[in-house]
Amino acid sequence: MRIDIVTLFPELCDTFLSASILGRAREKNLFEAHCHQIRDYTKNKQRQTDDYPYGGGCGMVLYAQPIADCLREVQRQCEEQGRARPHIVFMTAAGQPYNETTARRLASYDSLTLVCGHYEGIDERVIEAFGDEEISIGDYVLTGGELASLVVADSVLRLQPGVLAEEKGYEEESYWDGLIEYPQYTRPEVWEGRAVPPVLLTGDHNKIDAWRGQRSRERTRLRRPDLYEAWCESHPIARIPRWKRSERAQLIRTDAQFDAAAALLTGEQGEECAAARENLMAKRSAGWAFYLHSMGETPDALVGVCHKTGEIAQLFVKSDAREQGIGTKMLDFALKKLSEHGSPWLNVENSNTAAIGLFRRMGFVPDANEDKGENLVMRYCGKKTEKL
Ligand code: ADE
Repeated sequence: MRIDIVTLFPELCDTFLSASILGRAREKNLFEAHCHQIRDYTKNKQRQTDDYPYGGGCGMVLYAQPIADCLREVQRQCEEQGRARPHIVFMTAAGQPYNETTARRLASYDSLTLVCGHYEGIDERVIEAFGDEEISIGDYVLTGGELASLVVADSVLRLQPGVLAEEKGYEEESYWDGLIEYPQYTRPEVWEGRAVPPVLLTGDHNKIDAWRGQRSRERTRLRRPDLYEAWCESHPIARIPRWKRSERAQLIRTDAQFDAAAALLTGEQGEECAAARENLMAKRSAGWAFYLHSMGETPDALVGVCHKTGEIAQLFVKSDAREQGIGTKMLDFALKKLSEHGSPWLNVENSNTAAIGLFRRMGFVPDANEDKGENLVMRYCGKKTEKL
């Protein structure tokens, strides 16, 4: 890739592109960068680059002519190299907001030219004549477009093959998949009384990946609800796997089934199990129906529905039966049982991002009117699912 920066401060831009990771990559010819002085293309004696704005007002406006001539020279050089016509971007506070999606799009051009404005702006006619697009790096005004062009250059060049030491690097990090990055830790294991999350020391990569994914979704949902919303939208809707022959969901009626459900929820036979059983029985008296899922003989999942209120609760899958779509199937099953309700609802812990993600993909949305502190109320708002 070739990148050109058209600016009144080429040395400043060049220094940045020669330092650190980009500097090393530039030396290895992993990309080509050229910074052009607008002043070199002026045609007046004073080498003046700007003038007062027509119609009055404060500040100065950059002339169209030197920028146009400089851009023509860049186009000529690209042609000479047998490159594609450069994609020309004007950096202005009035441009389209910049993000990683735009960075990835710009990274796909063989030649990219960034034009930096200064003072009050650039004569609009040169933007009309040469600009493929205008980009703003944020809702604030800079004294010039140099920092903005370097932000764009940096985020685009690091995506070029070989620039980052580990190719995999950028695929995992923030915004690549629309999520904020999970927290990172390095030595020592305990720093000023703060320990590294134990899961990271287990060496179990499945567990570590699951933890990182969960933290990433949780952070995004809490810190950047806009990104989280977009991520949910762009991620596959939940697919409901087919029920296997050996698989069924049965209404819990007998004592033995209540025992099995309580044991499933608590994973044991003791006091906790007895309390869980009491709780299920009390709910049944209040109008709840519970369904036990089993594969062959062994119960491995549970769900409860309340026909009176349209609530779904106690959706639970035994740990060794997870990741097989059983939770999805049981939720779909519960929704069908509650088909008389317009919008069945459920309560979920705010920290349970895997469940929240599943519920969203199944068509549940957070209920804005229900603030339950640690818990989130989600309502079913229509079909988002498809059959596998
Ligand atoms: N020039 C001045 N402010 C700018 C901004 N926010 N983004 C891009 N270029 C600019």
